Amino acid sequence: MTNGAQPRIQWLGRWGFILAATGSAVGLGNIWKFPYITGEYGGGAFVLVYLLCIMAVGVPVMMTEIAFGRRGRGSPVDAIRRVVNESGGSRGWSLLGWMAMLCGFMVLSFYVVVAGWSFSYLWKTLVGGLSGSSVDDMAAIFAANNASPLNLGLWSTLVTVVTMLIVGKGVQAGIEKSVSWMMPGMVLMLAVLIVYGVFSGGFGDAMRFLFSFNVGSLSSEGMLAALGQAFFTLSLASGAILTYGSYLPQSASIGRTALSVALADTVVALMAGMAIFPVIFANGMNPSSGPGLIFMSLPLAFQAMPFGTLFGFLFFLMLSMAALTSSVSMIEATVSWLTDNKGMSRTKASWLAGSVLWLVSTLAMLSFNIGGDWTLAGKHFFDWLDYLTSRWMMPLGGLGMVLLAGFVLNEQSFRDELGLSRFWYMVWLFMVRYVSPLGIGLVFVDALGLVSLQIHSHWPWLLLGLIAITLLGEWVRPRLRLLP
Ligand code: PHE
Repeated sequence: MTNGAQPRIQWLGRWGFILAATGSAVGLGNIWKFPYITGEYGGGAFVLVYLLCIMAVGVPVMMTEIAFGRRGRGSPVDAIRRVVNESGGSRGWSLLGWMAMLCGFMVLSFYVVVAGWSFSYLWKTLVGGLSGSSVDDMAAIFAANNASPLNLGLWSTLVTVVTMLIVGKGVQAGIEKSVSWMMPGMVLMLAVLIVYGVFSGGFGDAMRFLFSFNVGSLSSEGMLAALGQAFFTLSLASGAILTYGSYLPQSASIGRTALSVALADTVVALMAGMAIFPVIFANGMNPSSGPGLIFMSLPLAFQAMPFGTLFGFLFFLMLSMAALTSSVSMIEATVSWLTDNKGMSRTKASWLAGSVLWLVSTLAMLSFNIGGDWTLAGKHFFDWLDYLTSRWMMPLGGLGMVLLAGFVLNEQSFRDELGLSRFWYMVWLFMVRYVSPLGIGLVFVDALGLVSLQIHSHWPWLLLGLIAITLLGEWVRPRLRLLP
């Protein structure tokens, strides 16, 4: 190795990385967030833009991140610094690594609160605390669950402790071992729930809602949300995938691996939609009821159905496991940075990171009770964490990474790392140099109100623009020496 990267512990099994990365990707983002924002932004059009973002931006960014991790063999900060160093680039690029680590930490701070809801509902299905017969009863149960800081805090603390216990046990014995049984279990439970959804009577409506692509109806806000969701659901620009990539054996194919993870994640999100919306429509509920959607609507629906308690239990068990396999990945970057740079043992690093996390997440949790009026520009702390990370930090971090990989790094070194055939390498290069940056850029200028993008009518112009910029870029690039 030429960049100073040290040999590092690696995933034990052939499936280690795929399982862990899919575990990271599949989480509350797929099962809690995807259905409720799809509901808020009107269904099919949102889903279509989301799928476009996954393919045009998500997959190339994921490949880039895995390659950074594996070539730099370290936490995001160290790995990016080493890889850039190898090409003689500026140290300043490691800021991207710092931002990613911070982003993972911020996401986890609100994530444990939602995971805490899931744990508490799992408990409620066990002890029969979910009885009520109307939508209002369920809303009241959700509100009561949130109203007590002690109750909510205990659940999110439990999630934090379990996460840190798994991370503390290490990459192989903790993370890899836990995902290797949680992931198959989760998929099985989801399949059972879909079969259940098919017979609930609302399946047709659900399919229409999810797949009637009417792109004209999507707002700029909706497009930014779709892009943010693509980043969030694939765990990008938050240190998770990059750090997991740093444990990837040299023999694995980065392209194939990234595609499998993205595909599995998309399938699970759509499956979750197919399991959840039928139940919502069959019971005449409103799909746009926000973050509480699955917690208020599903328990009610489960109750009204045969073996509902059992299915409700399975659902919240699946949700809690999905959350855990994601939460461990968000803190792994920080823990790996602490062990590599501060000479701490893994256990110590986990407890230190976990304690800081606990403080910040407690603040986030208070947004639902005593901190409800501590708002800034109409958003409370919990909303700010979510908004800043998925709408801004992740897309900007992803943009920085593709620009770095596409324009700054020495082509040969990254090409070796990706190990793609000539054709696929060219496709990847075209994506990271032009398609992803322009895609992210357009969504931003649109969201800032600088232009108004109507994909359905403007697409020929967008395509022409992309071709023109690519040609111009490839002409200018060799003449503009970005590196000394
Ligand atoms: N991808 C996870 C989910 O969908 C969330 C996540 C974000 C995980 C960032 C890691 C890093 O729930």
